Amino acid sequence: MTAKTAKPKSAADLTREDAAAELERLAAAIAHHDRLYYQSDAPEITDAEYDDLRRRNEAIESRFPDLIRDDSPSKRIGAAAVDGFGKVRHRVPMLSLGNAFAEDDVIDFAARVHRFLGLDESDPVAFTAEPKIDGLSISIRYENGKLVEAATRGDGAEGERVTDNVRTIKEIPHKLAGKDVPAIAEIRGEIYMSHADFKALNDAQAAHGGKIFANPRNAAAGSLRQLDSTITAARPLRFFAYAWGEMSEFTAETQHGMIAAMHRWGLPVNPLTRPCTTTADLLAFYREIGEKRATLGYDIDGVVYKVDRLDLRERLGFVSRSPRWAIAHKFPAEQATTILRAIEIQVGRTGSLTPVAKLEPVTVGGVVVSNATLHNEDEIARKDIHIGDTVVVQRAGDVIPQVVSVVLDKRPAGAEPFHMPHTCPVCGSHAVREADETEGERGVVRRCTGGLICPAQAKERLKHFVSRLAFDIEGLGEEKIELFFDEGLLRTPADIFTLQARDAQSNAPLKSRKGFGAKSVDKLFAAIDARRTIGLERFLYALGMRYIGEQTAKDLAKAYGTLAEFRKAVDAAVAGGKDSEAYADIDNIEGIGETVVDALIDFFSEPHNVEAVDALLAQIEVQPYERVAAVSSPVTGKTVVFTGSLERLSRPEAKAQAERLGAKVAGSVSKKTDYVIAGADAGSKLTKAQDLGVTVLTEDEWIALLSG
Ligand code: IVH
Repeated sequence: MTAKTAKPKSAADLTREDAAAELERLAAAIAHHDRLYYQSDAPEITDAEYDDLRRRNEAIESRFPDLIRDDSPSKRIGAAAVDGFGKVRHRVPMLSLGNAFAEDDVIDFAARVHRFLGLDESDPVAFTAEPKIDGLSISIRYENGKLVEAATRGDGAEGERVTDNVRTIKEIPHKLAGKDVPAIAEIRGEIYMSHADFKALNDAQAAHGGKIFANPRNAAAGSLRQLDSTITAARPLRFFAYAWGEMSEFTAETQHGMIAAMHRWGLPVNPLTRPCTTTADLLAFYREIGEKRATLGYDIDGVVYKVDRLDLRERLGFVSRSPRWAIAHKFPAEQATTILRAIEIQVGRTGSLTPVAKLEPVTVGGVVVSNATLHNEDEIARKDIHIGDTVVVQRAGDVIPQVVSVVLDKRPAGAEPFHMPHTCPVCGSHAVREADETEGERGVVRRCTGGLICPAQAKERLKHFVSRLAFDIEGLGEEKIELFFDEGLLRTPADIFTLQARDAQSNAPLKSRKGFGAKSVDKLFAAIDARRTIGLERFLYALGMRYIGEQTAKDLAKAYGTLAEFRKAVDAAVAGGKDSEAYADIDNIEGIGETVVDALIDFFSEPHNVEAVDALLAQIEVQPYERVAAVSSPVTGKTVVFTGSLERLSRPEAKAQAERLGAKVAGSVSKKTDYVIAGADAGSKLTKAQDLGVTVLTEDEWIALLSG
């Protein structure tokens, strides 16, 4: 007799009873495999086997539609599997904090606050000092006291909707208590995991062969980003409230008042928060918390100082992505010693050759480190690093671990000094140290001259193109880029968007290959399609032009609004060259200097780059820059120049206020200047404005103009 289990009966042959039992079995099995796939990235079956399970489930369901279960996989995962979490646009952006590492940085911070507000150094300004919790920030929206939505920080403008998961966190109330809860209250704070809970979770994971987390923060992040909220519910997450987003009304006029209100409403707040007035108070708090750090029972990576009065904060505003009214004072980086086994060379997307230390694995501040950056050849020589040395490795926050020094007495006899190669290890082209224009000296970075032929550069560019702050294409990570590049499927960014069409024509479509199930291929194509429209700032960042990082890309996007305007300006500068007005116009943008203008010109003067950009534009649509808080004031869109000394506002505050109202503040006067605001003793800029016939305002006239 043949074994009955060898092949399951086809759906057409099943009795009703068998079908019901089979659907139950399939629902449990598919849920189990979904969990493995989404939660731990550790599937037990191939995608093809998984697809078979789903197909069988569908076949039985279509024959017995009345047997479809409430927990049927056809109802449950579907959309969630493809899209992951929905996106939430933050109504008030979630910004980050500037960092202070030394006491002097804290003194400078307090001095900056005073100067900006036009206060004397001796005038007291109240601050709060709080522990800086090392978890992940979250924004929780309450409407009429009820929790309606929760979102991660994401890129600060847009995060992921994790409402169901946040609802499983016991410390976070579903309803706020008290009579003074505003109709709309967006509570912000940190989700974290305690040391004890982290250890228990890892022990339990180890016992059943699950994923081991490197530190409590990763465990908290991994737990919150579960598509199945029953998993989040089983993870012991905690929360501290310390900030807010949109509020329909303000219950207090200070940070400490707001914290007290959040506490009354039922939210956990950190009991160590303390009012301070002098820099000495702030520094005493830092030292005290540093001493207590090991006994707190949760990870902190520093303390945060905030100006207490909300009206002063309003005036202080923001500089790029951080508030002027707060700063994070970080604890020193954690260090460990280990052995440097070898030095490998990595080639970056701009052709830079970076020496990377291959280390005997060592735990630094709770994370196992086996690679660390050595920066460049001059640094290796300066630190006198030999292969085989015992070295001190340091890790601070999220930055790449680095080798800080050598323990010379432990140098083994015959340890070899390192010589940087003069050819690219990937393409064999010459690798040279260019003169660095900004410093006028030979640059420290050795670069591969292989530009277009160097696969490392092309690959790294593609990796950058799909990275989180750029096109952020889920399922197209570094490994896939490597693979697709090596196979010749992807060479330029535009190729990504033609991949599906080419794959449909291919004799060996991705779906038919080992390791690529139908499900994951569909998911990848859906993720690519989702990025066929992209914001201007992400687009500019994704191009990977030298010196154009996230913030500069944003500054350019903000200044030009649309891709067409941007291209017009850059093309004019390319045509006009360094002395042209078009060049000066870009240079005049807040946050942009000559290095960036030169980099833009370099990039857009290279026909291959223009070709690649145009090919990409045939596939995608670039959306105009979306201003986070759209402002409209009498000076929105105007270019203004301040000159001379102002009396009613400090210069930085006047500039920040103008920018907040949508004006562009330039450093020099040109035909394009709309207003010159001249204080006492104005000099050449005033004369130039008069020559060019630009409207000149006194400080009082300017303030009158602002107030409409
Ligand atoms: S205030 C406008 N307070 O640190 C900035 N942040 O680098 C509002 N953090 O993203 C943040 N403890 O995740 C603030 N007591 C605290 C904090 C804190 C931890 C985190 C937060 C933020 C990051 C800023």
